[in-house]
Amino acid sequence: MGPSRKIAINGREFPFKPGETILQVASRNGIDIPTLCYLKRATPTGACRICLVEVEGARNLIASCSTPAAPGMVISTESERVVRSRRLNIELLLASGHHYCVTCEADGNCRLQDLAYKYHIDMSRFPERPPRYPAEMENEMIIRDFSRCVMCGRCVQACNEVQVNQAISYGYRGIDSKIVTVGDRPYINSDCVFCGECVQVCPVGALIEKPSRFKAKAWEVEKVQTTCSYCGVGCQMFLHVKDNRVVKVTGVEDSAPNYGSLCVKGRFGYDFIHSPERLKAPLIRENGRFRESSWGEALDLVAERLTRIKGESGPDSIGILSSARITNEENYIAQKFARAVVGTNNIDHCARL
Ligand code: FES
Repeated sequence: MGPSRKIAINGREFPFKPGETILQVASRNGIDIPTLCYLKRATPTGACRICLVEVEGARNLIASCSTPAAPGMVISTESERVVRSRRLNIELLLASGHHYCVTCEADGNCRLQDLAYKYHIDMSRFPERPPRYPAEMENEMIIRDFSRCVMCGRCVQACNEVQVNQAISYGYRGIDSKIVTVGDRPYINSDCVFCGECVQVCPVGALIEKPSRFKAKAWEVEKVQTTCSYCGVGCQMFLHVKDNRVVKVTGVEDSAPNYGSLCVKGRFGYDFIHSPERLKAPLIRENGRFRESSWGEALDLVAERLTRIKGESGPDSIGILSSARITNEENYIAQKFARAVVGTNNIDHCARL
């Protein structure tokens, strides 16, 4: 790295790699520049102007999320001019819709709320704009409340660039602007696959998981990291737990392999956890009816039957079908059981079928 490839931020010098933005250099070095529209895994759009910084010699404030660092830049991230501009932008965003926090699902997990708090803005100088579009409440998974949308475009980027579903985009013009599906149809009649990526990245309360609504405030839940059990990918997820019940699921943003993304099953398919119909004990069929048994009894019965079948018809009369919903280690044990215990190579896996 050449000695001149450095920038100064708030009086301290930092080296940078070619292509790095000012925001990336700052956050790598522990300097917090607030953002709203910036989405790590997508192309920066510079839409919200919250991340503006002052660069010595530049006439205008510039968006740090979309401006590459250049040798010799001298940058202030919280100068009086920057703060004045940031406050104005926050006030305009607050006035752009219905940002009433009391019953908002994003309360406690809202970037706009955090920004208003950080910059001591308890009221916008500008009148609130009345809602132009009714909220879309009908969908079973995602509520779209357009009155809370700040048009930051994170949902569009998440859908188009991260998930590459291309189900939503910008629609209409000027004051009528709105995030739309193709033909501005309800989600259920669109190309949406309900992965919920848009909900996870929404920085305000415009997109909400319907099943979680009114279940818990952000600070009431314990977030438990776990591995999704729906397939073998191993996506990392947070279970949001309140009173020993899972009330929401989100992806873990900085963890492989999914880096925050989930599919519809992983994000919304958790109702089985507390289902009264969930099987919690093995069932043994007797006289055409199932009865609950202990694991010991069930395993003894399976062992006894397998031994009998093997004795009567040989080991190759038995086949074992394994599952993508269990771990690699469990699949390894299944094939070991087939080959070493039963004595057959009849072992297969549902994902191969
Ligand atoms: Fe940079 Fe929005 S975060 S412009």
